[in-house]
Amino acid sequence: MKTEGGSEAAKRRAGERAAEAVEDGMVVGLGTGSTAAYAIEAIGRAVEDGLAVRGIPTSYQSRQLAIEVGIPLTTLEEVDGVDLAIDGADQVAEGDLIKGGGAAHTREKVVDATADRFLVVADPSKLVETLERPVPVEVLPAARPVVADRVRELGGEPELRAAERKDGPVVTDNGNLVLDCAFGELDEPGELATSLSAIPGVLEHGLFVGLADAVYVGTADGVERRTYRAGK
Ligand code: 5RP
Repeated sequence: MKTEGGSEAAKRRAGERAAEAVEDGMVVGLGTGSTAAYAIEAIGRAVEDGLAVRGIPTSYQSRQLAIEVGIPLTTLEEVDGVDLAIDGADQVAEGDLIKGGGAAHTREKVVDATADRFLVVADPSKLVETLERPVPVEVLPAARPVVADRVRELGGEPELRAAERKDGPVVTDNGNLVLDCAFGELDEPGELATSLSAIPGVLEHGLFVGLADAVYVGTADGVERRTYRAGK
């Protein structure tokens, strides 16, 4: 359930500007999606020029791209922490996000939430006043019906994400399913996030509330940087 549209030039500007925050010696979380890919490519070019960093990918896609552009990889098991994470988003309201358009939100949240600084990269089509996209929820396959019932009890309408170019559902990098859960406008995203996290069988949901330190929005001729949380 990817967002349609959004200019490639704006995505590139956002990704490349955020990549400038990467410093020598850092452990960097590598987000997923077309906007984060511009940041990964820029980090790859910096590595080629001598920058020493280690990347922690958040998906099969970002791992493959990081290998392609020459970023040395590591894992959460091998490091003391993550200095910086750069990741995209499907919808951005102030500093709160809906992610998971690429079904990678579980690993993305682990890495993004662990990072000392989490930078979001987006084009203007992602910006909204109130989050209202269906919230992706990764579920254990065996728990799908009961999770769907609990989502309905919370006022949501769950829809199993169907694969494209494969019969049947999307299967995540972790071997699970995704329910896209429509709740309409989310006036209290933090409360919904807490309720979804409490459902047995839910691995993770795509509401990222209060996690972003800054959002880099690529515009027609530059990048607008909005700071949140600690304002880093
Ligand atoms: C993947 C994500 C992506 O970051 C999100 O879908 C944005 O992708 P794009 O930059 O291609 O629009 O959350 O699960």
